[in-house]
Amino acid sequence: MDTILEAPNREASRDREGPGETSHSLAISVENLTKLYGDVTAVDNLSFDLPTGRLFGFLGPNGAGKSTTIGCLTGLIDPNSGTINLLGEQFTSDSTELKRRIGVMPEGLALFDHLYAHEFLAFNARMYGLDEQTVRGRVEELLTVLGLNSAHHKRLAQFSTGMRKKVAFAAAIIHRPEILFLDEPFESIDPAGVAMLKDWLRRFVAGGRTVFMTTHVLETVERLCDDVAIIKAGHIAWRGDVGRLANGGTLECNGQQFTTLEALFLHLVGERYEHLEWL
Ligand SMILES: Nc1ncnc2c1ncn2[C@@H]1O[C@H](COP(=O)(O)OP(=O)(O)OP(=O)(O)O)[C@@H](O)[C@H]1O
Ligand SMILES: [Mg+2]
Repeated sequence: MDTILEAPNREASRDREGPGETSHSLAISVENLTKLYGDVTAVDNLSFDLPTGRLFGFLGPNGAGKSTTIGCLTGLIDPNSGTINLLGEQFTSDSTELKRRIGVMPEGLALFDHLYAHEFLAFNARMYGLDEQTVRGRVEELLTVLGLNSAHHKRLAQFSTGMRKKVAFAAAIIHRPEILFLDEPFESIDPAGVAMLKDWLRRFVAGGRTVFMTTHVLETVERLCDDVAIIKAGHIAWRGDVGRLANGGTLECNGQQFTTLEALFLHLVGERYEHLEWL
């Protein structure tokens, strides 16, 4: 996996990367982003900056606008208004060159079901402009380390849910993007697979790259993320560094201190335990 995710040494990095690549202080800068679906405001005048080299957790209750935001930041969804800058350049759904520098694992996992995994990964890698030798090497390496080689005779339609998720993850990283957008990446993946992917992501950001990730697993966020935002009804309700929890620190919100992210999350989105009398 070193070829894709490990922090590059400086000389190799200079050869492979264009001038200025990964040198921007801000990976993502969003101003007044709004997305409406009819009369539903999915993303509501959202503004935030994310420095490079951070593993950012984007949290929030169901329907808060996380996937819509990822869609807007990756060109899958056209926002109604607002500006998006990625890696120091203005981003729109037509930003073809900038799109080559990001990777995305979207919520819906748009895989081509009639393809084999190696065909799908090779297709993605070629689309990002990798040379044939690199394509072959990375496809083979990814399928091997993700334990998918034994499924070489199955088309993607015949893959299990977790296997599909692994293929989508592989497709998002295969070109070694500068910003990696992941929408609930660990859902359905087995514990050994999750442990490996988390390790990859830590190495990835240690190399100066950036991860923007949604998840509902708060324990994962506490252990993995540097920086967290909790969104509610399309806007940011809290932003902070959860790393302090590991050192016995607390998280502050509205003048209150919280010792876990779960307690803070419940404070923000409301704690509701309703009974079902008939159950
Ligand atoms: N294609 C669509 N058409 C109409 N409304 C949509 C569409 N996609 C999302 N929405 C609405 O936009 C809002 C935000 O949805 P979004 O999928 O971004 O939430 P989310 O935070 O990703 O939720 P989850 O945690 O369930 O994945 C919701 O009210 C949802 O119903
Ligand atoms: Mg979602």
